[in-house]
Amino acid sequence: MKSSFSYKFLWVLATIMLVSLGINAQQKKTIYILATGGTIAGQGATEVTAGYKAGAISVNELLKAVPEIKDIAFIKAEQVANIGSQDMNDDVWLKLSKRVNELLSQSDVAGIVITHGTDTQEETAYFLNLTVKSEKPVILVGSMRPSTAISADGPRNIYNAVATAVATESIGRGVMVVMDDKILGADDLAKTNTLSVGTFQNPNYGPLGIVYNGKPIFTRQTLKRHTSNSEFDVRALDKLPRVEIILSYSNATDLFVDAAVKAHVKGIVTAGVGNGNITTALQDALAKAVKNHGIAVVRSSRIMTGPTAQWDEVADDQYGFAASWFNNPYRSRVLLMLALTKTNDYKQIQRMFSEY
Ligand code: DGL
Repeated sequence: MKSSFSYKFLWVLATIMLVSLGINAQQKKTIYILATGGTIAGQGATEVTAGYKAGAISVNELLKAVPEIKDIAFIKAEQVANIGSQDMNDDVWLKLSKRVNELLSQSDVAGIVITHGTDTQEETAYFLNLTVKSEKPVILVGSMRPSTAISADGPRNIYNAVATAVATESIGRGVMVVMDDKILGADDLAKTNTLSVGTFQNPNYGPLGIVYNGKPIFTRQTLKRHTSNSEFDVRALDKLPRVEIILSYSNATDLFVDAAVKAHVKGIVTAGVGNGNITTALQDALAKAVKNHGIAVVRSSRIMTGPTAQWDEVADDQYGFAASWFNNPYRSRVLLMLALTKTNDYKQIQRMFSEY
């Protein structure tokens, strides 16, 4: 009698455990981690030295440092590249964007986390923000300390990125970067410090939110066009138009504009002084580049915050230039490359710079 009671008790207990495991498994979403390299996959000589090699360890080794992500998601990992992001390039961008689009079109994939070096993270984030055709969360994550350092920031950042990717509140917000417990929008991303773990900011608009106790808390929403509301589509492209950035400073000459014209670039972004102003020599050379060679010119600024506004000191309409508004030179270059896949009419390009 007693043994039949304990048999039944054990049977009920086992059933409850199996059902709750099943419910838990059903609730867990599938997140793909696409690795591209950077410090987050970097290896130092010792735990305390500053020097290290970016992109040294594989995605599977990297994820061993943060086993907790398996409690919140089904993780699948792929190595897309393994480079320091100073070497990020159009080929990897196109490969990444196409793979993200492919994966997100599958109904069983809930979101993507991309590990990336921090040097050009803002450019890749913006490129994906304009070329991913899905509302599902896409989060970039990096670290400022290599995986072998004391207090490496990578594992915590990866955990927070996965936690943000699985949250329903993260849907439809555009591509984001999660680092240092902050959620940052690709619409206004800037690396602001060469070494600090808190390097990333949204200097014009402020962060999208924070990650607290493994949950995203959003405090702003972007009004800029992105992802499924973007007009740009690179899925059938295997090349992007060449666009260069030219800096203005005291005494800046036409030297680099001439070189760009000779190299047959399709577009030039200026990193001007103040409100996107440029020396007269630069301005004259750029006006000729537009008129004689059909090169698209967008004025941006080397100043970190504030718009490069139309209708100020430069007569943009007279020269056929566009003004970048809140896009810094690096995002402006990405947007102009994509704009040039559709048009080189400066009025259309100006519209795009007002909307994205
Ligand atoms: N070379 C840098 C890069 O991959 C390392 C810096 C970093 O990831 O923080 O961007």
